[in-house]
Amino acid sequence: MLYAGVDLGTSAVKLLLMDGEGKIRKIVSREYPLYFPHPGWSEQKPEDWYAMTIDGLKELLADSDKSELAGISFGGQMHGLVILDDQDQVIRPAILWNDGRTTKETAYLNEVIGKETLSKYTANIAFTGFTAPKILWVKENEPENFARIAKIMLPKDYLAYRLSGVHCTDVSDASGMLLFDVKNRCWSKEMLDICGVKEEMMAKIYESYEAVGTLLPEVAAELGVSTDVKVVAGAGDNAAAAVGTGTVGDGRCNISLGTSGTIFISSEKFGVDKFNALHAFAHADGHYHLMGCMLSAASCNKWWMDEIIGTKDYAAEQKQIEKLGENHVYFLPYLMGERSPHNDPNARATFIGMTMDTTRADMTQAVLEGVAFALRDSLEVARALGIHIERTKICGGGAKSPLWKKIIANVMNLKVDVIESEEGPALGGAILAAVACGEFASVEDAAQKLVKIVDTVEPDPELVEKYEARYQQFRQIYPTCKELFPKIL
Ligand code: XUL
Repeated sequence: MLYAGVDLGTSAVKLLLMDGEGKIRKIVSREYPLYFPHPGWSEQKPEDWYAMTIDGLKELLADSDKSELAGISFGGQMHGLVILDDQDQVIRPAILWNDGRTTKETAYLNEVIGKETLSKYTANIAFTGFTAPKILWVKENEPENFARIAKIMLPKDYLAYRLSGVHCTDVSDASGMLLFDVKNRCWSKEMLDICGVKEEMMAKIYESYEAVGTLLPEVAAELGVSTDVKVVAGAGDNAAAAVGTGTVGDGRCNISLGTSGTIFISSEKFGVDKFNALHAFAHADGHYHLMGCMLSAASCNKWWMDEIIGTKDYAAEQKQIEKLGENHVYFLPYLMGERSPHNDPNARATFIGMTMDTTRADMTQAVLEGVAFALRDSLEVARALGIHIERTKICGGGAKSPLWKKIIANVMNLKVDVIESEEGPALGGAILAAVACGEFASVEDAAQKLVKIVDTVEPDPELVEKYEARYQQFRQIYPTCKELFPKIL
């Protein structure tokens, strides 16, 4: 049988077709616009996601036996607010995970409701990108839109709704709304009250590997497939990527270098760090995970290459980089403010340390290193909790660069396991569909059978030492600039 995984990303939707042996038959992608209506705001149109997903699915299935398609599932950009009225019309563009407009609402939740209370209800505190502060923002700033809300959903759940007619979500994605009791895997009635939301506006919750229904007849007809095709809940893109890289079970780690950068640690037990610096979320394998998320990762390199240097040849630029661990230039990668661990929407990107002999290659190197250093900030939080991590998987667009993997391995002092396919969330989505259709006994069983390590980038002790000294310098830059950032907005 065949399984489709849909990775609803920020720049594009990527669709992957996998067979029951785990062989990837085809990958296609479709882009859609991202809108920045004000500095720090970030929006997309849910209708674009759906149109591009249907278009992509048609191409994905074009040269396969369509009767073999058994299931479709998702990995989706997390935290986005999608609101529908009682006619199922999208009320306003979705407010995305990297949108920073909710400073006031986030401060209200953390300071007036209080971090301890939030953590008690949801296992997390408020971050500007999370969904609950966005609901409060709409309530305050667009009361006419707020009054029309009949359904609240997350980005990938809008796709599932259009495909199956079921208002559903999964535990991993729901975790990022700050409306969900992560430990008990149910909506937090207290948080719904705090946000003025009725429970009937919220989706039915599923485990990521559960079918929510089947394709609506009109959708099945449009795609030329059976109405028996299962629509499976799927997961937030990071949990889906973790499935796609075999980061399931206890104590495994995955780094994702996408538009955002995340470090994801799977855990069989529920746990929260003392300062809630890491997100404590439910995992797609039925258990839990901790995660640090930086808002701009591969997007920093993309910005530097495309917008500033003006090249598409990333590999050629990286070829010029020779002296690892010896760069005097540092880059703070906070192009969209920062989430983990600083929780500071006012943080900004900066280069520091240039001299007359600084080269373009030094600057490019600083960008790649800055992202690795910032990811290490989250790893240090996990280490301070006594979590011992020696190795990690890696996925996302940035993982295509051998140099960036080497920098990550040495900055973080981790063995980096490279897997056959770095298509994290799309592959994870297809695996979750296969589990729901009975192809595998569990998510762990599927990951064990399907995910293959093809190479390991080992840290080099000499380079690790050099980078340790650099990291200790890097970590002083943000505290030094912190007070300045809000003054230069
Ligand atoms: C995770 C997060 C991002 C988005 C990117 O908390 O906000 O990784 O999911 O799509």
